[in-house]
Amino acid sequence: MSNPQHNLTSQPQVPLPSPRRMLVTSALPYANGQIHIGHLVEYVQTDIWVRFQRLRGHEVHYVCADDTHGTPIMLRAEQEGISPQALITKVWQEHKRDFDAFQISFDNYYTTDSPENKTLASAIYLQLREAGLIEKRTIEQAYDPVKEMFLPDRFIKGNCPKCNAADQYGDSCEKCGATYAPTDLLNPYSVVSGATPIRKASEHYFFKLSDPRCETFLREWTQVKTPLQVEARNKMKEWVGEAGESKLSDWDISRDAPYFGFEIPDAPGKYFYVWLDAPIGYYASFLNYCQQKGLDFEDWVRPNTTTEQYHFIGKDILYFHTLFWPATLHFSGYRTPTNIFAHGFLTVDGEKMSKSRGTLISAQSVIETGFNPEWLRYYFATKLNASMEDLDLNLQDFIARVNSDLIGKYVNIASRSAGFLIKHFAGQVNDGAMSHVLLQQIRAASEPIATLYEEREFAKALRLVMELADMVNAFVDEQKPWDLAKDPAHKAALHTVCSVTLEAFRALSLYLKPVLPHVAINVEQFLNLPPQQWHDIAVPLNSKHPVRPYQHLMSRVEASQIDALVSANQ
Ligand code: 2FM
Ligand code: ZN
Repeated sequence: MSNPQHNLTSQPQVPLPSPRRMLVTSALPYANGQIHIGHLVEYVQTDIWVRFQRLRGHEVHYVCADDTHGTPIMLRAEQEGISPQALITKVWQEHKRDFDAFQISFDNYYTTDSPENKTLASAIYLQLREAGLIEKRTIEQAYDPVKEMFLPDRFIKGNCPKCNAADQYGDSCEKCGATYAPTDLLNPYSVVSGATPIRKASEHYFFKLSDPRCETFLREWTQVKTPLQVEARNKMKEWVGEAGESKLSDWDISRDAPYFGFEIPDAPGKYFYVWLDAPIGYYASFLNYCQQKGLDFEDWVRPNTTTEQYHFIGKDILYFHTLFWPATLHFSGYRTPTNIFAHGFLTVDGEKMSKSRGTLISAQSVIETGFNPEWLRYYFATKLNASMEDLDLNLQDFIARVNSDLIGKYVNIASRSAGFLIKHFAGQVNDGAMSHVLLQQIRAASEPIATLYEEREFAKALRLVMELADMVNAFVDEQKPWDLAKDPAHKAALHTVCSVTLEAFRALSLYLKPVLPHVAINVEQFLNLPPQQWHDIAVPLNSKHPVRPYQHLMSRVEASQIDALVSANQ
């Protein structure tokens, strides 16, 4: 009987639930800095989830882009003596290189400085204006009279009003920890020119979030309609307040020239604040992708769509994604997100990442020091869950975890059995061994593991996979194929043991495929299999398709590599 897994396109044996259609995003990184391991937590988390959904047979489109607008990018380009466009083009290439190295499987990686984004942002703004939700108001702000520009808070420094320490930012003192308003700083100066800032009035455009329609919508959206994480829902309750409390302030969505961004329609010299057009950049990237692929963008982004939309973000930008973004979408005639998934921050050895300790580790340095990115993907996954708790990269634990789990437990299974199967059985498994009780147990874990992936409980999913790996290794230890191989009388038993072990390895590789995509490709090659889907768990190895000689799948991490990585970042 032919085995369906060896058809070119592998077919499910039982009908699958109709595929879900999902648009998934990760937060757009700013185009003025390198990708570091703190960023990577989010891209790895999203990518594992996306790859899992694809393995389940769903239609998933994963888009992202560089977040290119705003004052810091404009000033950085000026410092480098290049145009903002030249800067963002250079940074885009660096970001893309890093994401590719970490196997982040974006379907489209775009830029917010795109014609699609300009058109969408302007149209959305005009819809909001039409809905009576845009208001013009004159406000006073800090202004650099030498540079002739308004100054965002982080571009003003001065002496701490409490301890008089010099060169402190406008929100808090790094010396004594005091928090205060930028106007409290003593001897304030502009970081751009050194001049003393003055107060200057200017007309700004506001999105009227305090409008009762917005409050009612956001209360319903955050408290009833959307299955937000508990921590997020509670925060929103605090921010939105009870009915009639009117806690939301209007949102200032404009900035004065000079500013790198999109000019606001009918408002010469006024630009959209970067946070207005950044999330719209999700849609612009998706629109650009739809145009390339012939997908119907409108079908995905209008109310009553049957598609799903998920945004993975860090907990620091929850406010933008659970208040501003859904309100922007809803009142301009678009669908709202299905859910927002926020994660915590990464610490290294229990502390905030720091340049002086060499723990602000850039993605590029990971690659250049010869690190295998899948080590880091795996380690992050063993720490990730559905909450917003911070997660720690403990460098010693990293070595132990990767070497013990991936090399000692998982890869070891293949290296222990493949040689015997090739040498004594021409790489052919014993088909009769495929219903072994151990394999039945491993297959029975398929749905529990899938549920954990779906719920973003990756740490728990991997713990289950490693428990199964322990069972397989215990089976090998007990059966001792190396002893069986010495006596021709035990040839049938040897065949069974190697076949069961290798089929178990196939199953574990499938369970790890969202986390270790590169290893998965090599395993499929070695086991002579077509690209595996989740339902292929039910389709065992088959004697008609002998496995190929075992190729080395992954090396151990050496302590010296960690030292090299830390020094590369100091
Ligand atoms: O916080 C940040 O790094 C922003 N660049 C994220 C933007 S996400 C989205 F809204 F565009
Ligand atoms: Zn101080």
